[in-house]
Amino acid sequence: MESLHEIGIKYNTDKAWSRINKKGVKVYGHNYLKYYELFLQSLREHKFTLVELGCYTGASLKMWKEYFPHANIVGVDLDESLKKLEEDRISFICCDATSSDLPEKIVHYGQHIECIIDDCSHAWGDQRRTFEMLFPMLADGGYYIIEDLECGSMGAYPDYPPKVLDAQPFWDYAIDRARYLRVSRRRHPEEKRPYFDQLPPHIQEIEKSIDMAVIVPGAIIFRKESQERAKQECQII
Ligand SMILES: C[S@@+](CC[C@H](N)C(=O)[O-])C[C@H]1O[C@@H](n2cnc3c(N)ncnc32)[C@H](O)[C@@H]1O
Repeated sequence: MESLHEIGIKYNTDKAWSRINKKGVKVYGHNYLKYYELFLQSLREHKFTLVELGCYTGASLKMWKEYFPHANIVGVDLDESLKKLEEDRISFICCDATSSDLPEKIVHYGQHIECIIDDCSHAWGDQRRTFEMLFPMLADGGYYIIEDLECGSMGAYPDYPPKVLDAQPFWDYAIDRARYLRVSRRRHPEEKRPYFDQLPPHIQEIEKSIDMAVIVPGAIIFRKESQERAKQECQII
C-alpha cells in the first residue's frame, strides 16, 4: 500500500514534501504528511467522514479519498466553482468555514467525523472560531488538524490581509487549550485546576475532551478523548 506521503506527491498537494508549481518548477511543500500518517494510519480501514476546510484544486481531497478507501470525504470552500470537485465519495459544501450554518451542513453530508483539517483562510480568528464550532462535532478519538500556522509568523506572506498576519495569538490560544494536559487527568480532577473555572463553559468542555495535542512544523494536531478508552483505563488500577 502506498504511504500518505506517496499519494500526496501523486496528487501534487502542498502538504507533501514537494510539489510542482504552475510554472512546472519543483518547490518545497509543507511536509506535513509524514507526521499525519503517524496518527491517521489507525483510521485507514475505518468507515468515517473526513472534513477538509479549504479545497482549492482538490488535490488533498483526492489524496484523502485514496488513502482512506472507506471514508466519505467532505470538502468545504467559499469558492462555489469547486462544486466540480464532487465525485464518488467526495462531497462539496460551499460555505465560509466560520459560518454558524456549517455544522448543520456538514451533518447533512456525513456523520461519525473522525478527522477535520483546517486548511482555508489561515487567519487566526477564523481558525479559532471554526475550531470552537467544529471540535465538538468530532467523534471520540478523532483528530482535528490546523495547518499553516506559519502564515502569520515572520511575515512569511506579506501580501495577506492583516488578519492573517498574526499567528502568535492563535499559537497562544492553541497552547492554552492544551493546558488541561499539564497534569494527569486521572490524578487531578478539574476542580483542582486553578484556572479552569474561569473559562467559559464551552471552552471547558473542549479542554476536557482534548486527550492529546501534538505540534509539528507549521501545524497542530489535537486528538479528542475516547470515552471508551478512558473507561477502560479507569478500570485498570
Ligand atoms: C490552501 S488552499 C486549500 C488547499 C487544499 N486543502 C490542498 O491541500 O490541496 C485554501 C482554500 O481555502 C479557501 N478559503 C479561504 N478562506 C476560506 C473560508 N473562510 N472558508 C472556506 N474556504 C476558504 C480558498 O478559496 C482556497 O480554495
